[in-house]
Amino acid sequence: MEKIILTGDRPTGRLHVGHYVGSLRRRVELQNSGEYSKIFIMIADAQALTDNAENPEKVRQNIIEVALDYLSAGLDPQKSTILIQSQIPELCELSFYYMNLVTVSRLQRNPTVKSEIQMRNFEASIPVGFFTYPISQAADITAFKATTVPVGEDQMPMLEQTREIVHKFNSVYGDTLVEPNILLPDNKACMRLPGTDGMAKMSKSLGNCIYLSDPEDEVKKKVMSMYTDPEHLQVSDPGHLEGNTVFTYLDAFSKDDMFAEYCPDYSCLDEMKEHYQRGGLGDVKVKKFLNNVLQETLAPIRASRAEWEKDIPGVYEILKKGSEEAEKVAAETLSDVKNAMKINYFEDKALITEQSERFSK
Ligand code: TRP
Repeated sequence: MEKIILTGDRPTGRLHVGHYVGSLRRRVELQNSGEYSKIFIMIADAQALTDNAENPEKVRQNIIEVALDYLSAGLDPQKSTILIQSQIPELCELSFYYMNLVTVSRLQRNPTVKSEIQMRNFEASIPVGFFTYPISQAADITAFKATTVPVGEDQMPMLEQTREIVHKFNSVYGDTLVEPNILLPDNKACMRLPGTDGMAKMSKSLGNCIYLSDPEDEVKKKVMSMYTDPEHLQVSDPGHLEGNTVFTYLDAFSKDDMFAEYCPDYSCLDEMKEHYQRGGLGDVKVKKFLNNVLQETLAPIRASRAEWEKDIPGVYEILKKGSEEAEKVAAETLSDVKNAMKINYFEDKALITEQSERFSK
């Protein structure tokens, strides 16, 4: 079977290094692996509006930011189709039919929805659109017949919900939709990169993100003030790795050959960790190494962004072309869905014959 990727992000802010190790870096690898016949990357503006209805300008401004982050991180419009969700009306139609296959209580049990409702203090006043976004996400995934959805761990419940909708649809209306598989990051540190303050999640409101587009000195400042081990007061004290943000970032970003270049006292991360735990290795030295590691990773992305920023109309053109291409694919799926549901009255010759016979009896 053809292997097809679909994944995406809500355009509510610039992408940060958590997005990068959690998903973006992998997408670029998958794109360049040549194993996938099609790759769709969606800027999910309609989903972003489900909890930003009163803030459309934020979404509008961030579409181009996310597109620039994608392109500068290495997504190549020749190989990947980058699209804007709201420009594919077929997705709404699919969602509308899928809504009949999902119960309210099932949505209420979706762990991602549950925690997002809490985070946003929506308890008493959940917008219907927000509540049903897992269904619209199932439409996103199935519209492109995606077999593979590379996302972070937090999206697991969305994939489960999608698979349930696919099963239900196929069992009621006949085999039509493709069942997608989730592709999680392969390294634990990449699953959920903490904020620079050690908090579980990077978020703009907490001010604990390192953005892909941060300038060099900004990255350095953020690294040098990162949360480490509060019990590691003197260099000679034994240090702890558990919950030590600097080491979590090194797990996610460092490669052995970076030691030779920036910290030749060690040949690999395990050696550095061992010294830290034994005592005698100071946080500043580790942070300086992490800064070099991050700068090496981010410098090419930053340089590429500067080039793309010179041609903003060209970037919008890429999004327009991508959305047009994507709409063709979604329209085919919608047509399959309507055929399966037998709501294709005017193309269904058998129906017209059958009804003619019924009324001529
Ligand atoms: N829910 C995803 C997020 O919050 C964005 C998204 C929308 C998505 N549609 C998708 C991800 C389809 C994967 C597949 O980041």
